[in-house]
Amino acid sequence: MSNPIDIAPARGKLGVLLVGLGAVSTTFIAGVLAIRKGLAKPIGSLTQMGTVRLGKRTDNRSPKISDVVPLARLDDLVFGGWDIFNDDCYAAARTAGVIEPSLLDQVRPELEKIRPWPAVFDQRYVKRLDGPNVKKGKNKKDLAEQVVADIRKFKADNNLDRMVMIWCGSTEVYMTESPAHASIDSFERALEANDPSIPSSMVYAYAAIREGIPYTNAAPNLTADIPALVALAAKTKTPLAGKDLKTGQTLIKTIIAPGLKARLLGVAGWYSTNILGNRDGEVLDDPESFKTKEESKKSVLDYILQPKLYPDLYGKLCHIVRINYYPPRGDNKEGWDNIDLFGWLGYPMQLKINFLCRDSILAAPIVLDVALFMDLAKRAGMSGVQEWLSFYFKSPVHAPELYPEHDLFIQLMKLKNTLRYLKGEELITHLGREYYD
Ligand SMILES: NC(=O)c1ccc[n+]([C@@H]2O[C@H](COP(=O)([O-])OP(=O)(O)OC[C@H]3O[C@@H](n4cnc5c(N)ncnc54)[C@H](O)[C@@H]3O)[C@@H](O)[C@H]2O)c1
Repeated sequence: MSNPIDIAPARGKLGVLLVGLGAVSTTFIAGVLAIRKGLAKPIGSLTQMGTVRLGKRTDNRSPKISDVVPLARLDDLVFGGWDIFNDDCYAAARTAGVIEPSLLDQVRPELEKIRPWPAVFDQRYVKRLDGPNVKKGKNKKDLAEQVVADIRKFKADNNLDRMVMIWCGSTEVYMTESPAHASIDSFERALEANDPSIPSSMVYAYAAIREGIPYTNAAPNLTADIPALVALAAKTKTPLAGKDLKTGQTLIKTIIAPGLKARLLGVAGWYSTNILGNRDGEVLDDPESFKTKEESKKSVLDYILQPKLYPDLYGKLCHIVRINYYPPRGDNKEGWDNIDLFGWLGYPMQLKINFLCRDSILAAPIVLDVALFMDLAKRAGMSGVQEWLSFYFKSPVHAPELYPEHDLFIQLMKLKNTLRYLKGEELITHLGREYYD
C-alpha cells in the first residue's frame, strides 16, 4: 500500500468541448442526456458500470469505479462544440441517424440548444468536406485565439468549474512530424506564418493545451502527439490522450490476437475489410484520409504478435485492411475478418469473423469515459501522455522511447492499477501465491 494521491474534488460543472458535432459526438451527447433522464442505460461505459477489485480475492471488495475515484457526475456535464455545418445537435443527430428519432425526441429541447460555434477548417486537410460555418482569421495564430475566446466564453456563460476537449472531427490527411512541430517556439512561429504543416486539429489542440484543458484525440490524425504540444502540455500541466477510438473491427482484433498469441498459434494472414456508409466513411473514401486510418489500424497486430520475438509464428504475416464507403449502411458498419492461422506441426486453420456493429454506439461510451478520466487526471495532477487510457485507443499515444501496449487485457489491467494507485490501494499482480502459502 502506498499513500493515496491528492485528488481535487469533482465540484461544480464540467464543460465537454467537442470538435466536430457528427455521429460520435451527437450519439455521446444525446446518450448522456437520455441516461440522465433514466431513459436508457450507460452500457459500455467503465466509469458508469465498471467495478474494480480492491485487496485480496478473499476480501470480496469490488466497488464501482465511480465510488472509488471522484468523477464528475453526468448531471454536471455541459456540452459545447464546433462544426463546419450550422446544424444544432438535434438536427446533426438526425442526420447521423444512429439513435432512433423516438428517443432523440425525448431530449430534443436540450439537443437543440447546442449549436456549433464556427470551426477552424481548411479543406486541404479533409478533402471530401466543405461547410459554411467556418472562422476567418489573419493567420492560424489568430484562429487559435478565436478558439480560446470561444472556450472562455463557454466557461463564463455556463459557470463551469473545469473543461475537457475531445477532437471528434473528421480524420485529416496523413501527416508526419515536421520542423515546425519540434518546439513550442517553432510551433508558435509556424502558427503566425500559416505553415501548412499545422492542420486545423492542431490549432484546437494548441488552444486547449495552452489553457490547461485536457486534450484527447478520438481520430487517428496527427494532433497533440508532436514534441511542441507535448512540451506545452508539460508547461501548462495538461493531460493528453489518444488516438483513434478503439471500436469495431480493431476492438475485436485486439481481443482475438492476444488469445491466439497466448496459445502460440501462428498467423499467416489477417485480411480485414469493412463497409461503412456514414460521413466518416465518405471522408475515409479519400485516399489521403484513409492512409491516416490505415496506419492506425495496421500497427496493432505487429505490436501484439511481436514477430521479431516469434519469427516462426508471425514473421511472414500478411495484414491487409480495407474500408469501403457504402452509403446504404449508414453508421451500421459491417466488418469481415479472415484469419489464416496454423497450429501444431504447421497445420492450417481459418477463423472468420463477421461483425455487424454500430460504430458510434461503440464509440459514445468511450468518449464519456475519456472525458471523465481526463478530468480526473487533471484533478490528480497527472499531466502529459495518459498511457493508462490506452485501453480506449487504436493507436495509443506513448513516450517516444516506449512501444505502445495494444493488448486490450493488459490495457485494462493498467487502467485499473492506475485507479488503485491513485487511491493508495495495493496493485494487483495476479501472482496469487499468498492464497496457497
Ligand atoms: N465511430 C467510431 O467508432 C470511430 C472510431 C474511431 C475513430 N473515429 C473517428 O472519430 C471521428 C468522428 O467520427 P464520426 O463518425 O462522428 O464522423 P462524422 O463525419 O459524423 O463527424 C465528424 C464531424 O466533424 C466535423 N468537422 C470536420 N472537420 C472539422 C473541423 N476542422 N472543425 C470542426 N468540425 C469539423 C464534420 O463536419 C463532421 O460533422 C472521425 O475522425 C472518425 O474516424 C470514429
